[in-house]
Amino acid sequence: MRLRMSALRVNMRGVKNESLEIMENVKPKRKRQRTRAKDEEPSVGTSLPPYHNFREPADVGRLRTRLLSWYDLEKRELPWRTLAQIETDVNIRTYAVWVSEVMLQQTQVATVIDYYKKWLKRWPTVADLAAATLEEVNQMWAGLGYYSRGKRLHEGARKVVSELGGRMPDTADELLRRLPGVGRYTAAAVGSIALGHVTGAVDGNVIRVLCRMRAVGADCTSPAVTEALWALANTLVDPGRPGDFNQAMMELGARVCTPKGPLCQQCPVRSHCHSYLKVHARQEQNSRKFLGSKGTKPPALPDIEECGASGTCRLCPTEPWDEELGVQNFPRKPAKKPPRVERTLTCVPTRRGGDGEDEFLLVKGPNKGLLAGLWEFPSVPLAEVDDSEKKQQAALCAHLGNILGAPLTGNPLQYAGEVLHVFSHIRRTYVVHTLRLGGGDEARPRPANVRWIGRSALREAAVSAAVKKTVKLCDSAGLRNQQSSPHAERKKDDDDRKKPKRRHLAAARRKRR
Ligand code: ADE
Repeated sequence: MRLRMSALRVNMRGVKNESLEIMENVKPKRKRQRTRAKDEEPSVGTSLPPYHNFREPADVGRLRTRLLSWYDLEKRELPWRTLAQIETDVNIRTYAVWVSEVMLQQTQVATVIDYYKKWLKRWPTVADLAAATLEEVNQMWAGLGYYSRGKRLHEGARKVVSELGGRMPDTADELLRRLPGVGRYTAAAVGSIALGHVTGAVDGNVIRVLCRMRAVGADCTSPAVTEALWALANTLVDPGRPGDFNQAMMELGARVCTPKGPLCQQCPVRSHCHSYLKVHARQEQNSRKFLGSKGTKPPALPDIEECGASGTCRLCPTEPWDEELGVQNFPRKPAKKPPRVERTLTCVPTRRGGDGEDEFLLVKGPNKGLLAGLWEFPSVPLAEVDDSEKKQQAALCAHLGNILGAPLTGNPLQYAGEVLHVFSHIRRTYVVHTLRLGGGDEARPRPANVRWIGRSALREAAVSAAVKKTVKLCDSAGLRNQQSSPHAERKKDDDDRKKPKRRHLAAARRKRR
């Protein structure tokens, strides 16, 4: 790759306000991407109700100019932006922007930067990524979350090499059609940023900006609002600089038009914003009323434009405007489903490795699902039905026996504590036990999805954040030191182990009731 990563300097101003809320629904959306020729007029006056649309092409022109001028001055220098600007090989550029957009799908900019640099250093081209193993990809992705994203990138790269002769798709439509994990937003973002396609791109930040700007107060996840926002984004996108325009909208959402505490006074396009103008007009009205009551004649009140179709309009809010919220009245989202609550009984088997370093036993999770293909500690889900402590531990011991290829006798598990890990829609509590094993199982055949790994290698391994938290818990419980002699451990007085554990499990059961 021509670009040297050391050349990429990152300016991290304001990254904390970043918020990407949408998860791209990649499966059912196979709609044709609408792209426009560069010299075509913006399609003002589509089927959107006039109040929510941009009616004047000149108004659209002014908005573009204001937004892009602000972006040119204020934008963060991010590695993928620099790369999109200076990389002349379109195949490399498309690949690199694709990687950035997938990483950014559910992860904040500040977190992505280092992962992105490391990734491109290791796999600078799509062919390099295709030649990697999934294990290497998972290892690189560890800690970024939503692990199926890395897997899909890898699958996509292999597809590009095996089916497309190593050439990345070169239109937004083809990106959408050919690459796993690429939905409408990602195709539009990569298409506009890497390929200069004239298409809007609507992510969580852009949803917020557009809903506020055009007073779209209906549920922003409804099909009517989604289509309206894409139509608006396609109307607004600058045909001369589509990638910059889309990134400017994202940047505005991340740094100025933030979910909470938006900085309207710094917004370069506030004069186009219905929500801002409404707040502003109401403030004026209130101060004039106040002055009026002091004896001066109140001047004519400013008009606050409203939607002519409200009542039947599918974009208007169904709830009244809340004065206190101001522009934060929009966007409106449906109430979030409460996360699923799960409990998992997990065991951290350890042994002393050949070089004296502790080793941990890990099993590889299934290739699908939340933690697709990652290495985890052996676990069994805790049944909803309140099984007895004995039964639950027996299930875990049986599972461990299968993994180790030899049954565990007695009750060798030691309770260590609980770890809570919040995945996107799951609050999972790991009820953690440790198991200290002596050596001696080296000769036994081990399935490919089971491995012993040293403490230092574990830090670099393809494991989730939950596994790292679990190790920390075991360390802070001091179990490693206490258990330095495996034999002493096994022989410990039964009461030592059972009493706190019983109390703990009973308390956990009460909590769940
Ligand atoms: N979020 C999604 N795409 C982005 C980009 N290109 N720059 C900054 N934030 C983003």
